[in-house]
Amino acid sequence: MQTHRIIDGKAIAAQVREGVAKEVALMKSAHGFLPGLAVVLVGEDPASKVYVKNKGEQTKASGMNSWEHKLPAETSEAEVLAIVQKLNDDPAVNGILVQLPLPKHINAEKVLNTIHPDKDVDGFHPVNVGRLWVGERTLVPCTPTGSVILAKSVQPNLSGLNAVVIGRSNIVGKPVSALLLRENCTVTIAHSKTRNIHNVVKGADLVIAAVGIPEMVRGDWIKPGAIVIDVGINRVPGEAGKTKLVGDVNYEECARVASAITPVPGGVGPMTIACLLKNTVEAAKIQRGIKD
Ligand code: GUN
Repeated sequence: MQTHRIIDGKAIAAQVREGVAKEVALMKSAHGFLPGLAVVLVGEDPASKVYVKNKGEQTKASGMNSWEHKLPAETSEAEVLAIVQKLNDDPAVNGILVQLPLPKHINAEKVLNTIHPDKDVDGFHPVNVGRLWVGERTLVPCTPTGSVILAKSVQPNLSGLNAVVIGRSNIVGKPVSALLLRENCTVTIAHSKTRNIHNVVKGADLVIAAVGIPEMVRGDWIKPGAIVIDVGINRVPGEAGKTKLVGDVNYEECARVASAITPVPGGVGPMTIACLLKNTVEAAKIQRGIKD
């Protein structure tokens, strides 16, 4: 049995937050301002409420300004767009995040594309997507950034590795592929139409699973010694009528073969908000022309 390392996302996220808090203190002392993040939540989705609460708490804990705009589910698209525009025009607001999903009567793409690209801390705006692919300084989506930080915590130099990304979403699969290419990996994007997907994954030194199918990746898909980063968060029936969280990777099986693997929960999950805080500082620096 291969001895594997469990990648501790909680601990690494805490380190990222520590780095953010130091940068925030430096912004205050050297540049005389505190970065600030505004979050817009429309409706009562329970999971979204928890995310937004956590984001607010962690933003304040890092020393930054935090604003929450909680709007009723029946808020019109025009009202949401007007709020985003107001936040775009407010120089104290460095980052804007509109929590997804939005109610059905609101066009999410239209709302996200209204956020000024330099305040788009989710990194979802097409301008930022383009900047990422051409290699310009930009705001990179948080979960992909967190996934690459975790991979680099095991192997700081990813250059030349065969990386297989499972999933091609705009939120994770595509941007994490761009990041891995920037790290000089040879990147393959596998997805629901990929033939013999297990053979494709078997060639990977680094596997990033972001497909949204519970425990799809099996132990015999993994090359011995590979690094496995599981982005999936799936709620499935557990014991005694309760639900449990599992990833896109069958952890028990893959942990036996991998050299390092992220657990679910406690792997990629905690990295997302930490990277959001990092992006808020980066957004402030971009807006004020402060070098990296
Ligand atoms: N809802 C769940 N995850 C996210 C995220 O990363 N960004 C936004 N805006 N909404 C989300």
